[in-house]
Amino acid sequence: MAKEKHTFEYESYTELTDLSAEDQKLIKNAIEAAKKAYAPYSLFSVGAAVLLENNEIVTGNNQENAAYPSGLCAERVALFYANANYPEQSVKSIAVVAMKNGELVKTMASPCGSCRQVILETETRFKQPIKIIMGSQSGYWIVKNAKELLPLSFTSDSL
Ligand code: THU
Repeated sequence: MAKEKHTFEYESYTELTDLSAEDQKLIKNAIEAAKKAYAPYSLFSVGAAVLLENNEIVTGNNQENAAYPSGLCAERVALFYANANYPEQSVKSIAVVAMKNGELVKTMASPCGSCRQVILETETRFKQPIKIIMGSQSGYWIVKNAKELLPLSFTSDSL
């Protein structure tokens, strides 16, 4: 038996102004998107902003449903919209924030497992890493790609 170890790396910032201008803009777009979320059941509004290769930004937010599992997370709404409408554009980065009562949440909201899998698919599709930028009241984290968030991941290479 061999024990393997996986290390995980991310950047951590305290202030929004510590981020690059491009990343700050993406976070601001994610916040604006979160404010338009449809989250009447959880009251947890999530916003995602996707930066395309052509530098256009597309956004999404969580869309809940009375039949709970029919709802969709902000990251997937944004990424599916991007991939549906800009199938030739690779994705450079995605910013994600969560808000409650109109304010950023205190603890970091990082993409759920299904969203990580969808970000990974987009990475694989365009053969380009997607930077994941997360924001909360306690600061900002940047992960260099979805693979980093999904060790032992399942991709088309696995098929
Ligand atoms: N949610 C997202 O939009 N993204 C995530 O990565 C985690 C969870 C949404 C789904 C649901 O509408 C609400 O947050 C509470 O789970």
